[in-house]
Amino acid sequence: MRQLLLSPLLAATLLLPAVTSCAGMSHHGEGHGDHATTGGSLVAVMTPTAGNAARGTVTFAPGDGGVVCTATISGLTPGDHAIHIHEFGDIRLDNGKACGGHYNPEGHDHALPTSGMRHAGDLGNLTADAAGNASYTIALDNVTIDGGHNPIVGRSIIIHVGPDDGGQPTGNAGARVAQGVIGYAKP
Ligand code: CU
Ligand code: ZN
Repeated sequence: MRQLLLSPLLAATLLLPAVTSCAGMSHHGEGHGDHATTGGSLVAVMTPTAGNAARGTVTFAPGDGGVVCTATISGLTPGDHAIHIHEFGDIRLDNGKACGGHYNPEGHDHALPTSGMRHAGDLGNLTADAAGNASYTIALDNVTIDGGHNPIVGRSIIIHVGPDDGGQPTGNAGARVAQGVIGYAKP
C-alpha cells in the first residue's frame, strides 16, 4: 500500500523537472530568438473602410529576393488597385487616414516597383477580376520583416479605389478602400 501511494508521487517528482526542461528546449528549438529579430512571417488582416467591401489578407515571409509579399483580396471593383505600405499601424479612422502616408524611411520619391528608387512602401498594383477577387505576389529587396533595413512590422497596408500611376506625390490612387496593420503571424 505504501509503495502504491509513493509511486505516483515519486513519478510526479521525477517528471516535473523533465517537463519543465522539455518546454524550455522546445521554446529555443522553435526559434524564439529568430521571431524576435528576423525569420518570422507577418500578416495584415485587411478590413474595409467605411462604405467599402474590400477585405482579405496580405502576408510577408522571408524568401528568394528578400521578403515575399502575397495579397489575397476580395470585394474590389474589377481592375487595378494601388497597394502600399503606409507609415502607421493605426486603423482607428474608418477612412484609412490614420495610417498616414507611404512608408518612406529613405526619403525617395514615389514610384512603381519597376523602379529601384521608390518609397519602401510602394508595392504597385493588384488586379481584381470581374468578380472582384485579386491575388498578387511581389518580391521585395528594399524592406525587412523586422531587421535593420526598412523594417515593416507595425506599419500598415492600404488598398486604394484606383490604380497607382507612379505619379507624384503618391500615385493618384484615390480613396482608401481597405486597411490592415502588419503584425507577427502565428507560426
Ligand atoms: Cu496607399
Ligand atoms: Zn509611394
